Amino acid sequence: MQNRITSLFGTEYPIVQAGMIWCSGWRLAAAAANAGCLGLIGAGSMYPDVLREHIQKCKQATKKPFGVNVPMLYPKIEEIIQIIVEEGVKVVFSSAGNPKTWTSFLQEKGITVVHVVSNLKFALKAQEAGVDAIVAEGFEAGGHNGREETTTMVLIPMLREAVQIPLIAAGGIGSGPSMLAAMALGAEGVQIGSRFAASAESSAHENFKNAIVAAGDGETQLSLKGLTPVRLLKNKFFQQVFEAEQRGASKEELQEILGRARAKRGMFEGDLDEGELEIGQISGSIHSVQTVDEIVRTIVNDYQKSLNMLCNSSKG
Ligand SMILES: Cc1cc2nc3c(=O)[nH]c(=O)nc-3n(C[C@H](O)[C@H](O)[C@H](O)COP(=O)(O)O)c2cc1C
Repeated sequence: MQNRITSLFGTEYPIVQAGMIWCSGWRLAAAAANAGCLGLIGAGSMYPDVLREHIQKCKQATKKPFGVNVPMLYPKIEEIIQIIVEEGVKVVFSSAGNPKTWTSFLQEKGITVVHVVSNLKFALKAQEAGVDAIVAEGFEAGGHNGREETTTMVLIPMLREAVQIPLIAAGGIGSGPSMLAAMALGAEGVQIGSRFAASAESSAHENFKNAIVAAGDGETQLSLKGLTPVRLLKNKFFQQVFEAEQRGASKEELQEILGRARAKRGMFEGDLDEGELEIGQISGSIHSVQTVDEIVRTIVNDYQKSLNMLCNSSKG
């Protein structure tokens, strides 16, 4: 499975394990790297010294390529970038911010830069900023999301037509057939979040992993559109936000309901009522917590099977 994405990262498969707050520490990133994917440490929920520790542990746990996801709105961004450079990280996935700010600085240090976008306008901006590849994340995805609500099915072909640099699809992908579909639409790789959030090596709390497995069709919704849109599992906290939004609550009111450390409380500490539980629509198709190696082997085998099936059916 060699293409521009595997050459860019030096991986066996064009699969990226997404950077996810409270889920993707060194254990998950190293397991994904060892399984042949690009593993990402999610810096968004880490203090700078914690990030340094995770990078160092990841380097000990794998000799294969891994990177760091950096949400650009992070308050201590300069410190985070400094640590990434000092620790010799080779790949940065930036999100939630202007790709112009850090791209050339990082590239001058020999770091490959990929930027996450959810619409055409930002894809063109990212390409113009000189990033090495783009992740196009559709409406189905877990975590923070685009206001436009463009689905992966629509977003990938739209961006494929407009950008020349390598394109990675994200949002709603967690199986071999869905990876194949993304590649058919024009992606050259996939970024998978929710499926890995519910893996054995994810640092998410067991309660959260079990809630992902238990979730069915229609049990997530894009919320907080007035603030920063995020796809959430429908729990008590979600209901509170939903009701506030229905009655036209102000930004300040929503901010107060959100409060501080809600995401940590839900995803890391396992408070399923009061915590914020970020997860994608694909949670409805996740039926067990498996190891990263099992997940990747299943995806790769099923991808090949689906591809063969399509080739054979088109011959017949
Ligand atoms: C629990 C969780 C936390 C996330 N945190 C981040 C983050 O810190 N930075 C980021 O760029 N994207 C984040 N995302 C989005 C993922 O990186 C990825 O693009 C998305 O999960 C892909 O869609 P999927 O969940 O359908 O696989 C998060 C997603 C989840 C499920």
